[in-house]
Amino acid sequence: MEKKIAVIKGDGIGPEIVTEAMKALDAAAKKFSHSFSYTQLLMGGCSIDAYGVPLTDETIEVCKQSDAVLMGSIGGDTATSPWYKLPANLRPEAGLLGIRKALGLFANLRPCLLYPQLSSACPLKKEIADNGFDMLIMRELTGGLYFGARRTETVDGLETAVDTLIYNENEIRRIAVKAFEVARKRRHSVISVDKANVLDSSRLWRKIINEVSAEYPDVELKHMLVDNAAMQLVRDPAQFDVMVTENMFGDILSDEASMITGSIGMLPSASLNETKFGLYEPSGGSAPDIAGQDKANPIAAILSAAMLLRYSFDMTEEADAVENAVGKTLDEGYRTADIMSEGCKRVSCSEIGTLIAERI
Ligand code: IPM
Ligand code: MG
Repeated sequence: MEKKIAVIKGDGIGPEIVTEAMKALDAAAKKFSHSFSYTQLLMGGCSIDAYGVPLTDETIEVCKQSDAVLMGSIGGDTATSPWYKLPANLRPEAGLLGIRKALGLFANLRPCLLYPQLSSACPLKKEIADNGFDMLIMRELTGGLYFGARRTETVDGLETAVDTLIYNENEIRRIAVKAFEVARKRRHSVISVDKANVLDSSRLWRKIINEVSAEYPDVELKHMLVDNAAMQLVRDPAQFDVMVTENMFGDILSDEASMITGSIGMLPSASLNETKFGLYEPSGGSAPDIAGQDKANPIAAILSAAMLLRYSFDMTEEADAVENAVGKTLDEGYRTADIMSEGCKRVSCSEIGTLIAERI
């Protein structure tokens, strides 16, 4: 098959890790006789430097004309980078939020699983780590607090800031459907996370999730309050199969979940719309402190490329080949610095990328 892939390497470690993900895609294309063409685009800080804005219409257009988007990471050090002296709507993150909205990518899938080879890197107690876990966080990505109206103003002489947490029933329904559908391909269990004991938006969330659940009698549904969910993730992560939650809760809980897998450098993500189109990026950030040193862990980017093959191109065997190559490379003891443990062989970002590509 011939496919067009838009590539946004972005800032920080983005360029290094995406280069390794492209090695994996090229290896899969070669093995399975496909042809992938890439168009490189700027977004985030590098787009600000080149064009004065974090996201251009052209970047959006080229993404729309592609079959999928592969992304690295955007942003810099918020304390020192000049990008953070700009108004909020011109900072790197505004580009990422903007592209998610412009492409209608409302469903963010973040699989979190503990590779048995990395269980010693898991910061949880040994008996919990030995039990393993394999969950998928389904985060709503284009609504809620991150997209509601916001302003800062003076009220009665006091500087006052407002952010709005807003959801309508359709926005909740479509993410619920995605969660139940994906649960059918996994262990048939959904835990919906909300704060229905306090928030109206969560009470609506719970009501709509219950309605959608009636269409999926084969999938078990439980509700969990977000504060409890934060605790359960470290107490007993194996209880989660599919977790579905709104934008901000998903942002926070997915970072927590990533940490218990050993390193945020291991976690891929897919952001999907109603069609096969998607944007694929590591769950982690741009790590400006280690950028350009060939030290970053590219596995999250490589696994994101595997998700791209699986979800946008329906290339199951190809995706399996990439994921198995990652497993094999870890089995052979190769590790980047973030997941290094005694007795393993420490390698750089580009070295582990090449090792994985060779094993595809
Ligand atoms: C993420 C990131 C982004 C988000 C930021 C960079 C806007 O934290 O993808 O989780 O909050 O969605
Ligand atoms: Mg985040």
